[in-house]
Amino acid sequence: MNIITDIKEMQETAIKLKKQDKSIGFVPTMGYLHIGHKELILNARKTNDIVIVSIFVNPLQFGINEDLDKYPRNICADTQLCESINVDFLFIPDTSSLTQNLLMQIQPSRLDQYLCGASRPGHFTGVCTIVAKLFNITLPDTAYFGKKDIQQLKIIEQMVMDLNIPVRIIPVETVREHDGLAYSSRNSYLTQKERGIATIVPDVINLITQQIKSHLGREEILNNALTFIDNEKLALVNYIEIVDEKTLAPTDDFKQNIVIAVAIYIGNTKLIDNRLIKYT
Ligand code: PAF
Repeated sequence: MNIITDIKEMQETAIKLKKQDKSIGFVPTMGYLHIGHKELILNARKTNDIVIVSIFVNPLQFGINEDLDKYPRNICADTQLCESINVDFLFIPDTSSLTQNLLMQIQPSRLDQYLCGASRPGHFTGVCTIVAKLFNITLPDTAYFGKKDIQQLKIIEQMVMDLNIPVRIIPVETVREHDGLAYSSRNSYLTQKERGIATIVPDVINLITQQIKSHLGREEILNNALTFIDNEKLALVNYIEIVDEKTLAPTDDFKQNIVIAVAIYIGNTKLIDNRLIKYT
């Protein structure tokens, strides 16, 4: 595996690979890789000649009071994991080289109004800008994004469509621990006690799913979900929503594809998760 830190070198390498007709699969990450990332990389490995993984803790997507400095990092373990699953290139640019002197950014519209976008102004502008830059540097044919961050996935899909970026976005299933908690780099912040109650996140999604199937109305379902979370002192709701799969706008029309999306603080750690319910 080659480790590249220089933007120009990465881009020239990608150009060379394209000239050799190699297909490139790209997995952008912020590092501290876990089994969820591994699944993205294995998907990329299956169908591409070359797999590029990037590690970049993107300052543009963190708000002033968010956890940028504290964000977990372990380049050594990440390198070992990538090597063990035959990643070809690990791209680790330094922060300033990707973000300094940036006078232009890509701002999503509409899809970032809801869910995480509502409470994290500028977050998805930071994500889109850095992902577009990484696409321009690594020149992938396909790029892999987890379904756990459903809003991020939808916004990136919209970005490549609206800006005619020639990259196919491949959504990858969420990977879960034995008790249903979705893998996330942020799980490492949880104390043992917090980890014990973190299953409240998939549990509340199960509760909402059952109540949708029992034909309860939106208001009643969301109130029941809030009460369920209220019973746990260490948990605090950021949002619990039922949204339209396409627009991500809140909906009470359950006769279409919908997404149950939740963000819940367990102690100081915000965990997000979701489930798509297909009407058909
Ligand atoms: O999902 C992430 O880890 C980040 O948002 C991404 C896509 C690497 C952009 O910084």
